[in-house]
Amino acid sequence: MLKILNIVGARPNFMKMAPIIAAIGNAASRGAEISQILVHTGQHYDEAMSASFFRDLQMPPPDINLEIGSGTHAEQTAKVMLAFEPVLIEQKPDWVVVVGDVNSSLACALVAAKLNVKVAHVEAGLRSFDRAMPEEINRILTDQLADLLLTPSADADANLLKEGIAEEKIVRVGNVMIDTLFTQLERAQSSVILEQLSLQPRGFAVLTLHRPSNVDNAATLRQIFSAIERIAVELPVIFPAHPRTQARLKEFGITPPPQVRIIEPLGYRDFLKLWSNSRLALTDSGGLQEETTALGIPCLTLRENTERPITIEQGTNRVVGREPSRIIAAALEVLRAEQNEPRRIPDLWDGHTADRIVEALLKF
Ligand code: UD1
Repeated sequence: MLKILNIVGARPNFMKMAPIIAAIGNAASRGAEISQILVHTGQHYDEAMSASFFRDLQMPPPDINLEIGSGTHAEQTAKVMLAFEPVLIEQKPDWVVVVGDVNSSLACALVAAKLNVKVAHVEAGLRSFDRAMPEEINRILTDQLADLLLTPSADADANLLKEGIAEEKIVRVGNVMIDTLFTQLERAQSSVILEQLSLQPRGFAVLTLHRPSNVDNAATLRQIFSAIERIAVELPVIFPAHPRTQARLKEFGITPPPQVRIIEPLGYRDFLKLWSNSRLALTDSGGLQEETTALGIPCLTLRENTERPITIEQGTNRVVGREPSRIIAAALEVLRAEQNEPRRIPDLWDGHTADRIVEALLKF
């Protein structure tokens, strides 16, 4: 019996892990010798940042919750390590599966590697080449620790090979978050978020913003909001705001005009219904760059770089930085275009990535 210990910690992990849990369950019910345990580190803990995702994505509740909560990077990473080590010693799994690039993923991968438990990293190989991003450090180190590197796209494979990762450890499986997107698209239709906010399909833009590099500096945040205000003259901008960003807006005394509608963070289905009906997404999220690519919604990334270049080469994403004139020009171009630019869904972003992940685990 192959025993898998799945790790989730923060909001962007849940939509990546849900299809893996389902695929392992399916494999077991077809007679495969595989079992699983779900560990939540508790990095995210609010109803809106965690519990609502378990409901929307029909995930089983975690078997174990480490409840580590917020803290500095060192505190958070160290707390996860301290809490996870005894769990790992007791559970003795064959594999620890981590997804993405949050602090919890690196912390659990490091504990597992030291205890000689095999680590599989889902979404391996993405690189922004910007080490000022905490996630870039997490990505590089998690990939160095992993025994099995499950990648979403060819650029990720190339990055890993350049870093000296052995080719036989790399398996390109596609983008697991898109499995969840396709599964939930139909179900999200029952969301009444557009009615609640009195919005017409294609009559609004969506904004998400939470990167420390964008929101923790008053001048940068003001600069971004000056561009958003100009865009909001054209159409309402709906902004489900991350708790970090809400706190900073208050701290810096930034009060956007009413056309920029700040709302609480949304659950998966409401948010899917919202952005998939928007005219334009403005974001610094990694996930939304990929999701908009899969559905062909124009996306402007408010960062200087992206670890997901395939969303630019094949998808609907453009990296526009934080300079207001550039953001505004790009947004107006999108709004004035008759039609969205043609797009291509990248290879293996087909809704079957989780099955390929389970196959790789069983085969390894
Ligand atoms: C983390 C991830 C980031 C991911 C993001 C999605 C790291 C290094 N960063 O950043 O990659 O894109 O999650 O949200 O792992 N807070 C709450 N309630 C919660 C969780 C957090 O209010 O449930 C507040 C706390 O004030 C906390 C702050 O948000 O200090 C930041 O949370 P944290 O987990 O440190 O990082 P994120 O910015 O969410």
